Amino acid sequence: MDTIKQLLNNEIESALALASGIDDCNANVITTSKPEFGDYQANGIMAIAKQLKTNPRELAAIVIEKLEVRKNELVESYEIAGPGFINIRLNPDALLHRANSALTDPQSLVASSQNPKTIVVDYSSPNLAKEMHVGHLRGTIIGDSLVRVLEKCGHKIIRQNHVGDWGTQFGMLIAYLQEVRTQDESELPAQLSDLEEFYRAAKDRFDSDEEFANTARLSVVKLQGGDPEYNRVWQQFIEESLAHCEAIYEKLNITLTRDDLDAESRYNDELENIVAELERKELLAESDGAKCVFLPEFVGKDGSPLPVIIQKSDGGYLYSTTDLAAIKLRSQQLNVDRSLYVVDARQSLHFQQVFAVAKKSDIATEKISLEHIAYGTMMGSDGKPFKTRSGDIVKLVDLLDESVRRAFDLVSEKNPELDESLRHSIAEKVGIAAVKYADLSKNRTSDYIFEWSTMLSFEGNTAPYLMYAYARIKSILRKEEAQDFTAKITSISESEERLLLLKILQFSEIVQAVSEDCFPNQLCNYLFELAGLFMRFYEACPILKADNSLKDSRLALASLTAYTLQQGLDLLGIETLEQM
Ligand code: ARG
Repeated sequence: MDTIKQLLNNEIESALALASGIDDCNANVITTSKPEFGDYQANGIMAIAKQLKTNPRELAAIVIEKLEVRKNELVESYEIAGPGFINIRLNPDALLHRANSALTDPQSLVASSQNPKTIVVDYSSPNLAKEMHVGHLRGTIIGDSLVRVLEKCGHKIIRQNHVGDWGTQFGMLIAYLQEVRTQDESELPAQLSDLEEFYRAAKDRFDSDEEFANTARLSVVKLQGGDPEYNRVWQQFIEESLAHCEAIYEKLNITLTRDDLDAESRYNDELENIVAELERKELLAESDGAKCVFLPEFVGKDGSPLPVIIQKSDGGYLYSTTDLAAIKLRSQQLNVDRSLYVVDARQSLHFQQVFAVAKKSDIATEKISLEHIAYGTMMGSDGKPFKTRSGDIVKLVDLLDESVRRAFDLVSEKNPELDESLRHSIAEKVGIAAVKYADLSKNRTSDYIFEWSTMLSFEGNTAPYLMYAYARIKSILRKEEAQDFTAKITSISESEERLLLLKILQFSEIVQAVSEDCFPNQLCNYLFELAGLFMRFYEACPILKADNSLKDSRLALASLTAYTLQQGLDLLGIETLEQM
């Protein structure tokens, strides 16, 4: 089923084409902010009128005439407004019909894309030399929400966790691992349980002991040259580091698995082919012994050309080279339509350059859309990138544990009579949800200040508020034993009922918008508004005290609201609780 917005756009666009003689019109239908004038409005008439140099209100009148000839059953009325908008009011029976089909077939609440695509989502992608830290939080959460949304829309998704597992740091780590390991080779040294500590200790050795540093440098050469012993030790280290990541994914309810690994090392053998390919296309130039691509669109502040370095003078390859190899695989072998990179905004120049080189060299197919889904930095309350008090990087696992601890205090305060173990399991969910939601609800492109007190509040646009709203509706339904309830919605005569129902039917439009623009905060805003409309409905329209048929209708509406909230939160990777 089309979304309401799509349907209205189609209707008005064909009427507008008839009225104007222009084939390719954009009706530009949006939801209105003033329900007293209608449910939607079409804003596209003015632009077409301008193109034709006619009066927009006159054109709007002709469009409405055309629309009236075979009026869509969804629409009650069209009306000219202002300088040439068309206000659209929907037919209540059609709204009820849509809502009731969603009650019997909940899947139909979100429309599947009519044009399903194959989409790579490259996200999380930590560097395995260290433990995951707060810098990995945003990409992991936003990326996971996007894959859920895109899958919901019926697209084929290929998750790619492009972990950093190759390069000089690993030589240092292998050398250190060989130094500290015990006689019994099968036993992992205890130091490895804290990767952060392990990295620091290795780095200290590297910086202070010239002999160790030489061994480390030799280790990379051996590793990259394919020496089996070095590869075995490296593998052991990677395995340990991945286990750390997986523990985090588990805590955070992230859908990434081992099958989604797309490690940098995977592209090792392909890198020389990339160089050869760029050479063939005559795109490479030497600069200080390094092989570079210079593209006219990239110049430094002083106007001098900026190189994209492909191979260093010592023969080593770079991050960009690996990304080009990955683009080759994604576009030429996996044949994907879109490749999304959910990565920190600070890498934006890197992606612009890599995408440009890939397109210019035909490493990327014509059809592939390469998109950097950039996000800003998570800041502390001092407005600087989030750190511990002593200025250290905060480990992700510590941050999540702290959130669960704080959620436990909060739940205990709100519900002291609940059983302690129940409070713990609620806190587990609320603590994680609060961190995720606080992030997802911000516009991803901006930096944001990480603040415990707001994210863990039961008021405002927060996870606890929405989870509580859901649990509250569920408890109303439980009271009426209306859990598996088959009644239909029959009444939307009260404006609170109508607004709530229309909002539910707009869920699909929001999901679609997120699948296109990749801004999950739109979905958060929607859910917050939905919960608010439910509260207004609940205050204005008695449920339990209403007569039988009205009561049934309102319970059904409440039940559909709960379903929509649960689905929406699930798309954000947030689990609901039946009781809080
Ligand atoms: N491992 C990289 C980092 O930690 C992120 C990789 C992002 N994905 C990519 N295809 N470059 O910064």
